[in-house]
Amino acid sequence: MNKTKVIEVPAVSLERGASLHRALISSVDLFAQVRRGISLTQALESSPKDIRSAVQSLSYTAFRFKPATLKLLATYIPKKMSDEVEDLLVLAAATLYPESPNHYPAHTLVNETVKAASDLPKIAHAKGMINAVLRRLIEHPQDFDILLNRHQNHYPQWWTYKLQRAYPKEWQKILKTNLFPAKLFVRVNPKVFTREEYLEELRKVNISALEIPAEILKLAPQAICLEQSMPISKLPHFSSGGVCIQDLGAQMAGHLLSPKDGEDVLDACAAPGGKSTHLLELANISLTALEINQGRLAKVNENITRLGLSAKLLVGDASKPELWWDKKQFDRILADTPCSATGIIRRHPDILYLRRESDFVGLKITQQQILRSLWDLLKPGGELLYVSCSIFPEEGEEQIQLFLEEHPNALRLNSLNQLLPSEWHDGFFYGKLQKLT
Ligand SMILES: C[S@@+](CC[C@H](N)C(=O)[O-])C[C@H]1O[C@@H](n2cnc3c(N)ncnc32)[C@H](O)[C@@H]1O
Repeated sequence: MNKTKVIEVPAVSLERGASLHRALISSVDLFAQVRRGISLTQALESSPKDIRSAVQSLSYTAFRFKPATLKLLATYIPKKMSDEVEDLLVLAAATLYPESPNHYPAHTLVNETVKAASDLPKIAHAKGMINAVLRRLIEHPQDFDILLNRHQNHYPQWWTYKLQRAYPKEWQKILKTNLFPAKLFVRVNPKVFTREEYLEELRKVNISALEIPAEILKLAPQAICLEQSMPISKLPHFSSGGVCIQDLGAQMAGHLLSPKDGEDVLDACAAPGGKSTHLLELANISLTALEINQGRLAKVNENITRLGLSAKLLVGDASKPELWWDKKQFDRILADTPCSATGIIRRHPDILYLRRESDFVGLKITQQQILRSLWDLLKPGGELLYVSCSIFPEEGEEQIQLFLEEHPNALRLNSLNQLLPSEWHDGFFYGKLQKLT
């Protein structure tokens, strides 16, 4: 075997006793579920618990590199492969990219992949071909280099074009940023610890944190960036509500809305409750957490309960307040609307496969309806924070502009506006409005 880019280190993400071939088999099943329209996050729940973190790491990485890997495979095998064979090869090949967090010795990768193929009835017939393709990939690392240097190879074409149109200068930087897994952040609950106190708790159990640049930390002062990913159960004081897991960009929402003691606050699209719990930590407020999906509202309840907080939980449609609103206006409203989620594709690389370009039209209308309907629920002088985890102006800036044109009693306040994904945070839009008296 030739010199390869495979780094000879143990398979760090596989828990003791678990084997790569089991992780590959489970990941092939996850890929099949995504083909049926199920999200990767949801599909992951069906993978065996003892190898779930390995399956997650493997399948998320493979999704990030899937289009480029397919392009490369097509140059090796011009004939269309079955979905299952293609998925297994994409999964195995993704471990060969230098950016992958999972590297295996070449012989382990080949043996375990062929073993996985033998155990999968729909693939078993192709194990000879899988073996040959994998060996060829391992022996020709230069083939990866050609693809790697062109970041657009890693994305569906519609996405690259849309990004180029919206960001003629930054599009390549955004593509590159999205190829690397996001950092893991915790949000310290200020009702329990100061940030310094929790850093000390981490030091006691030898968990290291990365230094966050001061100009970023000031926008999310409870954030701590963990040097390495780990199961949340290993974080000190997690189960007793000392901390939450939340992206640093998402942590900015609570500070931007900035609730004050005694206020009535509505979180209009609340699940899973990351921002609801933050609002409750920041002040002694009376919070109504509204969510259209009953199952997801249960998640909000779980998170609020773990933190020892309380809120009024409602199942309802934010664009139809007549069905659930008691006519008592709110001091502040958070409208974290359903959106394309194009600001968080690093965390959910399947988004680009589940989304279609045509989805944007429907999302834009829903966002407008929610924003318009919530305006009546705001007290004169009250403030509304419009949020989307999208990077496209049609779900951010253009929504605010349209709203201001239609509502002379709306004043735009300073906010962060469009935040593009970076090394330190996901992509979000934050627009803040005040209702004039
Ligand atoms: C971006 S997520 C909210 C994330 C949440 N704020 C957090 O920080 O954890 C959007 C949520 O809005 C819900 N949703 C979608 N349409 C809605 C509507 N018309 N009314 C209320 N909730 C809605 C979705 O089910 C989803 O849970």
